[in-house]
Amino acid sequence: MKRNSVIVQSPGRINIIGEHTDYNDGYVLPAAIDKKAIFKITKNGSENRVNISATNVNETYSFELNNFKPITSGWQNYIMGVVKELQNIGANFSGFDGEFGGNVPIGGGMSSSAALECSLAFGLNELFNLGLDKWQLIKTSQMAEHNFVGIKCGIMDQFASMMGKKNKVMLLDCRSLKFKYFPFDLGNYQLLLLNTNVSHNLASSEYNIRREECESGVKIIQKRFPTVKNLRDVSFQMLQQCTSEMPKNISRRCHHVVMENNRVLAATDALTQNKIHLLGELMYQSHVSLQKDYEVSCPELDYLVKLTLDKEYILGSRMMGGGFGGCTINLIDKKEVNSFIEFASENYRNQFGFDLTPYQVAIRNGTELIE
Ligand code: GLA
Repeated sequence: MKRNSVIVQSPGRINIIGEHTDYNDGYVLPAAIDKKAIFKITKNGSENRVNISATNVNETYSFELNNFKPITSGWQNYIMGVVKELQNIGANFSGFDGEFGGNVPIGGGMSSSAALECSLAFGLNELFNLGLDKWQLIKTSQMAEHNFVGIKCGIMDQFASMMGKKNKVMLLDCRSLKFKYFPFDLGNYQLLLLNTNVSHNLASSEYNIRREECESGVKIIQKRFPTVKNLRDVSFQMLQQCTSEMPKNISRRCHHVVMENNRVLAATDALTQNKIHLLGELMYQSHVSLQKDYEVSCPELDYLVKLTLDKEYILGSRMMGGGFGGCTINLIDKKEVNSFIEFASENYRNQFGFDLTPYQVAIRNGTELIE
């Protein structure tokens, strides 16, 4: 269809379990949520001019399609990154005006950046009939983040944003890219996110360091097990045989990834067998591992998880996403949600001097055209 303008929505995501496994070719269990970026894109008749306005922050930015480069930091890099990566795979399009906003909390660990990237990639594909499939759009969005934003992220966030399905979580094998939707029915329980409202600036540098640490772990493991490609191929027993040859921090990073992969598969089984208590237990284990082995948590996240430990109506709690801030994800009895929010909010304020923000998210479809 020939059109002059499109409006696209693309959601943020939650991740039930499987943190820092995606770039190790492992498993993740995310879902798209009812918080989203909305992007309106209109052809402006020019050959190269792009004018973008970011309505939430009331800022604008313009550039030429044949001459642009990343700036130090800012939302502009997500836009230019997507444009550049589309150009890199041969997509041909002309000037456009864009306007975006949305309600995915920035720095909340719900992937506001993937939501933005995917909305633009999807929108340009529709508007200019680029003929790209969803996987190409997912990859383009991920590469925008690598090459323009500087975070060597895995595939989970862009995948979840683009492929989400209402009321379903997705088990993604980040090696084969095969995925399966699972119904997400927690009975008397529900998810509750608590946003710490902190986003420590370690997030991007430490993220890339973790990735390198995993790679150096693999190099050591390969000396004993040459067929290993990355941590996905490593069992606990194999890792144990190599641990004495590794620096302590490297073996802890590897331990997290190996065990977290196992937890994702166990959690998927627990979900399908309706073993909600077991799912919660795995979430707690994931948090301890992210905190102690992977060292990507922070005092605010640890505090919120600790607050849940003696509450028998909360089955599981853990930090969600890259870490160093953002949200905890909690598995809580529906009846207790309001009173727990009140309890956690008051304690958090007393402890840190600022507020947390609670979110009761619903699982929704991935990126789609709304007009
Ligand atoms: C960020 C990245 C993802 C993933 C998570 C941690 O959200 O963008 O690719 O690595 O951190 O699981």
